Amino acid sequence: MSELALWNAAQLVTLAGPPRARTGREMRELAIVPDGAMLVRDGRIQAVGRRADIEPLLSPAAQIVDAGGRIVLPGFVDAHTHPVFAGTRADEFEQRAEGATYAEIAARGGGIRSTVRRTREAGEDELLGLARRYREWFLRGGTTTIEAKSGYGLSLEAEAKILRVIRRLGNEGRLRYVPTFLGAHEIPDEYRGRLDAYVDLVVEEMLPRIAEEHLAEFCDVFCEPTVFPVEKARVILRAAQRLGMGIRLHADQFTPDQGACLAAELGAATADHLEWTGTAGLAALVAANVQPVLLPASVYNLGSPHYPAARPMIDLGLAVVLATDFNPGSSPTASMPMVLSLAATQMKMTPAESITAATINAAYSLRRGAEIGSLEPGKLADFTIHDCGDYRELPYFFGREPASAVYVAGVCIYSGNV
Ligand code: NIG
Ligand code: FE
Repeated sequence: MSELALWNAAQLVTLAGPPRARTGREMRELAIVPDGAMLVRDGRIQAVGRRADIEPLLSPAAQIVDAGGRIVLPGFVDAHTHPVFAGTRADEFEQRAEGATYAEIAARGGGIRSTVRRTREAGEDELLGLARRYREWFLRGGTTTIEAKSGYGLSLEAEAKILRVIRRLGNEGRLRYVPTFLGAHEIPDEYRGRLDAYVDLVVEEMLPRIAEEHLAEFCDVFCEPTVFPVEKARVILRAAQRLGMGIRLHADQFTPDQGACLAAELGAATADHLEWTGTAGLAALVAANVQPVLLPASVYNLGSPHYPAARPMIDLGLAVVLATDFNPGSSPTASMPMVLSLAATQMKMTPAESITAATINAAYSLRRGAEIGSLEPGKLADFTIHDCGDYRELPYFFGREPASAVYVAGVCIYSGNV
């Protein structure tokens, strides 16, 4: 048996509460234990309380972790990322600084398609090496689980290659990965002008193989009038549902459209982005109990002033999630502390609401709510010691990664600021 006791946490931010995603005022309830302590056995949380409660339960061989008066949180659960790709798009970033738009760059063959060309050329081991580097960035930000999408292959062979890389990363055991198939991320060069033929390929060839090889738990589509319009997205997502996959979708990111309504119609787990979703779309999400995943870092990095309407969403009772959208084009950041900062300054979410959105709510959106996302007895001991004295400092000091130590299943995976 392995045993670990943590104590001397200025705030042990447990997020203990009902076994479901949190809504409305619940999003402000972090269930903090001041001067908190925690006992971990064989990777799972055994007890949470004060040092005096934990100490009598310890065996002599227990490892002691002194949090040193810092705060301790569940590891962040980043529920929307695109972490496996080759090359960067620093050249396009420069062009955008000079005035070009993301849509203009995409229309002339850049954007997602330029990353696809490079990712197709890369071998599986090469992609694995690149993705390992980004994995360390997530850990450094205090993240212990990510949802990881494919989407830079756009052929059966290349999509399967990316998903195998995600599986290998997960098996390496540092960061947890939840795989999502995003074969409908763009129309590849060889299918330009032949949208129907590409949708057939996704539905008839890619999805059955991905499902058969258990390469993905979820299926996502970039639902946008000029990419995969609602009618096409519906066909793909229904096919995925018939194969037993959960549904998430990129909805209403650049255009006021019916993406949120489609997510509601299909009973999707999440509708992501929602920058342009109107009142009817939000009402549909409420009625169907779909979780919004908000991605303010991509709005920021694209230089747009148009952030999603987090406050009305919370007021309507939606179980909001925050994520990085880490990808080489619209959001090259793996930092959840940065996302928390943007949520406060640009979307008026309180620090407590954004911590809930980045932990327990995100975990439920990935069907992992019973295992991760809060520090409660029985759950996996995925936690981070942040170099702060108060949880509000997490979004307040911005532009730094405050994690001092990151634990996955009770094992120290990363140690930084001391
Ligand atoms: O979520 N919009 C679609 N997908 C990504 C961007 C991917 C890329 O530019 O490479 C997003 O913003
Ligand atoms: Fe995305």
